[in-house]
Amino acid sequence: MALSFINTVDIFCGVLCLFLLHSLLRRPRKGPLLPPGPKGLPLIGNVLDMPSEQQWLTFAKWGEQWGDICSVTVLGQPFIILNSAKVATAMLDKKSSIYSDRPVLQMAGNLVGWVNVLALIPYGERFRRVRRLFHRIMGTSASMKNFSQIEEFETRRFLRRVLTKPGDLAAHVRHIAGAIILRISYGYEVKEVGDPLVELVDQAMEQFSSSTAPGAYLVDVLPILRHVPSWFPGAGFKRTAKSWAVTMNQMVDEPHQFVKHQMAAGTARPSFTSSLMEGKSITAEEESDIKWSAASLYGGGTDTTVSAIYSFFLAMTRYPEVAKKAQAEIDAVVGNERLPTFEDRPHLPYVDALVKEVLRWNAVAPTGMPHRVMEDDVHDGYLIPKGALVIANIWKLLHDPAVYVNPDVFNPDRFMATESTLAEPDPRGVCFGFGRRICPGLHLADVSVFISCAMSLAVFDISKCVEAGVVIEPVHENTTGTVSHPKPFKCSIKARSRKAVSLIEADEHKQR
Ligand code: HEM
Repeated sequence: MALSFINTVDIFCGVLCLFLLHSLLRRPRKGPLLPPGPKGLPLIGNVLDMPSEQQWLTFAKWGEQWGDICSVTVLGQPFIILNSAKVATAMLDKKSSIYSDRPVLQMAGNLVGWVNVLALIPYGERFRRVRRLFHRIMGTSASMKNFSQIEEFETRRFLRRVLTKPGDLAAHVRHIAGAIILRISYGYEVKEVGDPLVELVDQAMEQFSSSTAPGAYLVDVLPILRHVPSWFPGAGFKRTAKSWAVTMNQMVDEPHQFVKHQMAAGTARPSFTSSLMEGKSITAEEESDIKWSAASLYGGGTDTTVSAIYSFFLAMTRYPEVAKKAQAEIDAVVGNERLPTFEDRPHLPYVDALVKEVLRWNAVAPTGMPHRVMEDDVHDGYLIPKGALVIANIWKLLHDPAVYVNPDVFNPDRFMATESTLAEPDPRGVCFGFGRRICPGLHLADVSVFISCAMSLAVFDISKCVEAGVVIEPVHENTTGTVSHPKPFKCSIKARSRKAVSLIEADEHKQR
């Protein structure tokens, strides 16, 4: 252990010396400068300024001090931080042909092999092919019709689980999000407990998170370390990467093979994979694209949906008057003889506004995902150098008091225009990211959140817990991460009536 540590430090020091020398010898460049930002230290730049928790709050403060476009440099790597929708759109949407690459992640991407999932694929031909596959299956709101039955079926199962064990809300939310994605990707119906595929993908996703955690692997700071042989002392990360690659490949291959077997036997349910595989014969390259696209669905679609649905329950607990108003609308439009469906959405404007507010109030991906600039650009007079990583502070865009009145308050009415006030901007314009990297699952996310909110409000009263006569106030705090979740909270969930119980318990097989 000690030996391996010394070797790692030695290598680190050697490469750091080279880097420092290079920085010292480099001549200052003339012409436009990087956007302003906190002054860093010589050589290491802003290493010490970079927040390790809830980065979006610090980025927002920098925005107030330095302007909507600001920058920091960490060990020579420039980061450009955008704090308004206007600049994010002007750069990432309007100039998307040069703002659509992703950073290279040595540990997760190159050594483990996650570089093949859409979120990490470098901009280029393969990226375009995979985006086209997503677009074919889920690129429009009309294409959501193909998934509405699955969504409604799985949401009914969710209601049943919540009714039985309301105290396990967080686990039920995780279960429904995974179940929907596996059903859509592969036509796979997950078991109530101990499902082997769910366990496999969960393990792979956990390893993905560990391999992408900022600062966890030196090889991400010093890419040259990737050439160190696995047997070399201190090269434990290479052995870890090899073992994680096995889990990742299983996660990608096993469900794909499941669909192929089912298709051969003529028993495959319609799914993302089966629709893309059926018909014409496909090349090995096309099959590989389909396999990795389906795996990208799980990676992109599960944790994000979990965060949104969990935050809906938090919002309803904290804002009971909003829940009452939405329930009154559902009762008036849908009645209590059936559960709401997608067809009801156009007639439920307040519930629709509530879904928007869920996506705004709790920013699921508060700092989005970094876009890597592919060539030098000058924007608003600032240099945006090739290789810079551009971060849109989505949390700030959704909580900007100049755009959203009292941004910390959960208030769906902000999206309902009146005679005297305009509706505030639809958060879906920014919460799913920008340009050619915009979230390809945005329509699916929108319908999943809608049906979970509408069905849950139709049958449950959600309120604050009372323990020993004391009302427990749930606080709204978020975890740090690319996908941020509300921290665990307590709430009480009860069926609204006996009729609601019978709707929840209606025979599941009839609804398949
Ligand atoms: C509330 C739910 C969701 C939110 C807020 C969300 C948000 C985002 C954001 C901010 C990005 C980065 C965009 C950028 O780089 O500018 C992204 C990327 C992505 N999302 Fe989502 N997402 C959600 C649900 C989903 C779902 C359901 C799926 C899959 C069905 C999905 C699949 C992906 C994929 C594959 C990428 C990477 C795209 C690329 O790099 O080209 N997301 N999402």
